[in-house]
Amino acid sequence: MKYKACLFDLDGVLVDTAIYHFKAWQQLGLNFGYQLSEEQNEQLKGVSRVESLERILKWAGKEATEDQKKKWLIEKNEHYLELISHMNPSEILPGVSDFLHQIKNSGYVIALGSASKNAQIILEKTELIKWFDAIIDGNSVEKSKPNPEVFLKGAEALNVKPEECIVFEDAQAGIEAAIKAGMKTIGIGDEHVLDQADKVIPSFLNISAEKLLKFQETV
Ligand code: G6P
Ligand code: MG
Repeated sequence: MKYKACLFDLDGVLVDTAIYHFKAWQQLGLNFGYQLSEEQNEQLKGVSRVESLERILKWAGKEATEDQKKKWLIEKNEHYLELISHMNPSEILPGVSDFLHQIKNSGYVIALGSASKNAQIILEKTELIKWFDAIIDGNSVEKSKPNPEVFLKGAEALNVKPEECIVFEDAQAGIEAAIKAGMKTIGIGDEHVLDQADKVIPSFLNISAEKLLKFQETV
């Protein structure tokens, strides 16, 4: 089996924007007297903006009209955009640039598969954009992870088959999406949390792409 493509989630895999999402959701929650915890924020990783608000409202026991929800979604995103406007290449997670370099040199094609509607701007600010042959983000899909749409569209854009793809994800919903798409999965983070992934690494630091991507020997 020859793998041809690597598909990357953005938040928590290439850059750590969870802290900015947390700040923005926390500020929004305070508008209606609710204090969002870090543990709850963990559960929002990989979850779309609309679904994140639904979960927060549920936790807060807060009812809201559709108009109110729309207003809050805009407010949260405006705050988030302000926070990420200062991002730069120093915020790329450890080992990521080197790993992208390695796979590009080995001939893999590379796509982004993210739920974020702000993916493009983050890739530009961090200068990661130069590595990507295709970008599939929250603006290009109808169904969010764990639905496989984002990764299937990534494979299509790269002109490769799903079984030729390897997905890098830090969220359970993302691993589930990749499995449903029929792709190999590498979890970034805790192997107890990402136990469905084919392999799990704590980060890209000191990772040899050649060794990591040899599935046939270990799986
Ligand atoms: C990623 C993050 C989520 C975020 C989602 C949508 O999956 O992990 O926390 O809610 O993207 O991001 P957006 O930038 O469109 O609000
Ligand atoms: Mg993620």
